[in-house]
Amino acid sequence: MSECKTDVTTRRAFVRAGGAAVAGLGFAAGGLTAASQETLAMDGGPKAVTYPADRQAALTKWPRFSTAEKKALHDLIDDTNDSGGFYKELPALENEWREYTKSPFVKAHMNGSSAITSMYFALDLPPGAEIMVPSYNFFSDCLAMRFFGYVPVFVDIDPKTSCFDLDDAKRKLTKDTKALAPMHSWGLPCELDHLENFANEKGLILLEDAAHSHGASMQGKKTGTWGQMAIFSFQGSKPLPGVEGGMGMYRTREYFERAAAFGHYEDPAKFPTDSPVRAYEGTGFGQKYRMHPFAAAVIRQQLKGLDERNAVVAKNVRALNSRLLQLPGISEPRCRADQERVYYYMSMLFLDEAKAGFRRAAMLKALQAEGVRVSTWDYPEQHKLKIYSEAKWWHHTPRIPASMPGNMQVNSTHFFLPLLHGELPELIDQYVKAFEKVWAHRAALAKV
Ligand SMILES: Cc1ncc(COP(=O)(O)O)c(C=O)c1O
Repeated sequence: MSECKTDVTTRRAFVRAGGAAVAGLGFAAGGLTAASQETLAMDGGPKAVTYPADRQAALTKWPRFSTAEKKALHDLIDDTNDSGGFYKELPALENEWREYTKSPFVKAHMNGSSAITSMYFALDLPPGAEIMVPSYNFFSDCLAMRFFGYVPVFVDIDPKTSCFDLDDAKRKLTKDTKALAPMHSWGLPCELDHLENFANEKGLILLEDAAHSHGASMQGKKTGTWGQMAIFSFQGSKPLPGVEGGMGMYRTREYFERAAAFGHYEDPAKFPTDSPVRAYEGTGFGQKYRMHPFAAAVIRQQLKGLDERNAVVAKNVRALNSRLLQLPGISEPRCRADQERVYYYMSMLFLDEAKAGFRRAAMLKALQAEGVRVSTWDYPEQHKLKIYSEAKWWHHTPRIPASMPGNMQVNSTHFFLPLLHGELPELIDQYVKAFEKVWAHRAALAKV
């Protein structure tokens, strides 16, 4: 049970709410009446989703590689006569990504995590500098700070968006705070205009983790180009998959050159003679973070279809959500009119158990029995993990917050539906039918 006020509901209240709904409150009255007469699949009735499982699996499969990626890899393997052959993929990808995002400087790295480490190196802040980062996050955003003596300041997420909670950041601001590193959870941009204003007002450096949001934008400007620096991941589950791979984004030449020199020993020699890192030719700063050219070849092919794939997914999410949002208790992460979001991994929705009148566990059980591929997955809360509380790993040990109500609310109320990569009105209809059927039985499910 979550700490959040809206979730603290008694069993009696569930039963009352469920009973009221079955008595005919609110939604899709005709469909509800019909649905309430059908036996739930978990009680032995027919499944609402009859669309063949293999065709569903084909539609939700990710990543989706085709003959274009196979050909690109074959062509690259065959191109061994030219010693530069493999590596020419890297500048080619960088040029195409720079053009796509309209970013002044980009650098391909071997994964998102190495792009993050390089970004923190490029920051060049003194030990003890604090960087505000969501705890609802992948580890490398927080943990890579320790290599440079920085201190992660764990910030909550807004439960309406699952993104960076600026109010919490304002409460945690200290004289040592130097940067903000928000993450665009599940492809939804953070409110970058507010973050940018806050950063400018307080003299902070805005960074972005755009590992989930390839192609997303706000006010027409792509995620990854708002911050002074940003990163993308091309790991295989991401909207732009290369199996492994990452990209750093830099607003200034100084950041670009420092970040590139960190893990690319050959780069300093390519920089202008006045570059402060040019003298480190042949060593860089100690890491080797070059992207595998095979990954670059795959990502280049995937980039050609990125906008189209994002659009198909978003259209299907809208078709489904616009109907599911009619059901009491269901909501989706808030997306502003000036934000164009994408979807990473799954489509996340929220269940308000008090409004729905039954528990999330009962909903999951009933929907899964109907054949809906619904799931949950709690994002690890970084501040609760062992390494952050052990002083021996840190120059300055992070402060561990007592609670993160936003994290807890999102983890305890969300549910995921699969992303659909094709025109599929029939499956969407069946999913809606399954939800309506389950909602029609809320009084009974309140007792589960
Ligand atoms: C939010 C976020 N940031 C950074 C990364 C790191 O990317 P990579 O796996 O490419 O190192 C991930 C990976 O899943 C991520 O989800």
